Amino acid sequence: MRKATYQDCNALCEIHVSAIRELGKTHYSQAEVDAWSRGRTPERYEKHIRERQVVVAQHRSIPVGFGTLDLTTGAVMQLYVKAEYARKRIGSQILEELLSIARAAGLREVHCISSLNAEAFYTKAGFQSGQKCKHRFRDGGEIDCIAMRKLLE
Ligand SMILES: CC(C)(COP(=O)(O)OP(=O)(O)OC[C@H]1O[C@@H](n2cnc3c(N)ncnc32)[C@H](O)[C@@H]1OP(=O)(O)O)[C@@H](O)C(=O)NCCC(=O)NCCS
Repeated sequence: MRKATYQDCNALCEIHVSAIRELGKTHYSQAEVDAWSRGRTPERYEKHIRERQVVVAQHRSIPVGFGTLDLTTGAVMQLYVKAEYARKRIGSQILEELLSIARAAGLREVHCISSLNAEAFYTKAGFQSGQKCKHRFRDGGEIDCIAMRKLLE
């Protein structure tokens, strides 16, 4: 586990699209998966790396998952694991790293807008489900999501 650098932007983009397309299809239609994955370019990750906490999980030196935390709002903004590495506890390790960063910064709570396919993952990690909501994409389209939060000890 390490912090992301600008050199990771291509890899983060690939992981992001792979995770959405392969793991998102359990709960969303093809049109929704397309809307969710559309328009992702490596440049988009530069702002996250510059302004937020982005951690990368590697397997044999290759990035296989990443997560993003906004320390100013306490939002876990992105958490994606490459499809072929799913269910190997990589997402859990990334989330644990983000929670450590949040605790170290003095946050008492974190929250996220979870995709429906990720709700069980966040529940297992101690998050509580809140209201259903919509996540709208800047390139058009929207998906049903669920607001989740976790109090930090
Ligand atoms: C959500 C995601 C990050 C989870 O990463 P992961 O590395 O596969 O998760 P882990 O292996 O750490 O899972 C930990 C536990 O969460 C639960 N869990 C994870 N994925 C699950 C799934 N698809 N269905 C049900 N439970 C799941 C299980 O209890 C799992 O423990 P187990 O495998 O021992 O049963 C990954 O599935 C992903 O990238 N999904 C697509 C993108 C996405 O929706 N991201 C969230 C955006 S808000």
